[in-house]
Amino acid sequence: MEIWDKVDRYLEEKLVQSDAALEAALAASDKAGLPAIAVSPSHGKLLWILARLVGAKRILEIGTLGGYSAIWMARALPAGGRLITLEAVDKHAQVAKANIAKAALEKQVEIRVGPALDTLPTLQGPFDLSFIDADKQSNAEYFSWALRLSRPGSLIVVDNVVRDGRVIDARSRDASVQGVRRLNDLIAAEKRVSATAVQTVGAKGYDGFTVAMVTG
Ligand code: SAH
Ligand code: DHB
Ligand code: MG
Repeated sequence: MEIWDKVDRYLEEKLVQSDAALEAALAASDKAGLPAIAVSPSHGKLLWILARLVGAKRILEIGTLGGYSAIWMARALPAGGRLITLEAVDKHAQVAKANIAKAALEKQVEIRVGPALDTLPTLQGPFDLSFIDADKQSNAEYFSWALRLSRPGSLIVVDNVVRDGRVIDARSRDASVQGVRRLNDLIAAEKRVSATAVQTVGAKGYDGFTVAMVTG
């Protein structure tokens, strides 16, 4: 086991304080054959903290999987708050629906099934926090939609923007790498956001996430 796996475990036990509903969501996703690519517990808690910090009443997620990150973020919502999460694969949405119900969040969370580029145009903003975590080749398009559905002060978080460092290979033929590079080009040219990205190691290996604050 890599040292950062052990450190992630230590930090999870010490600081993150996962619970039965979150663990059950991961176990049920695994049992249903979903890939083990949900955010780590530490990353989930960070999303919860960010949602609380922006006082998020409306949250948008692109890429539901089994609902693990959705549960973390929905728990940060105040009474009457809402999270809309977009998922292309019906089976993932079904597993997520059950996990979200088990976490007693079915009133707060709405899953929209279909390719996100089809469901995004049907949404009404503004969202206070958007979490982009679906197919990486469409990252730039998802970011444009999230920005359109934001207000000044909103946050947009994008997962998996480093992928073992492959992001710096300009000639990569990997559509996910090119998707992240197009996203970065777009953010670099976009005056309405102020952004940074943080590299991470942990239970999911070497990766990173982008945080963009909408300023105008
Ligand atoms: N956010 C989740 C993990 C998402 S994994 C968590 O941390 O718990 C990525 C998800 O995006 C998968 O469920 C995949 O089916 C979904 N996805 C892939 N392409 C998509 C698309 N075009 N539109 C919507 N969802 C998509
Ligand atoms: C993959 C997708 C993710 O969202 C992630 O966090 C890790 C891996 C993947 O498609 O391989
Ligand atoms: Mg991800």
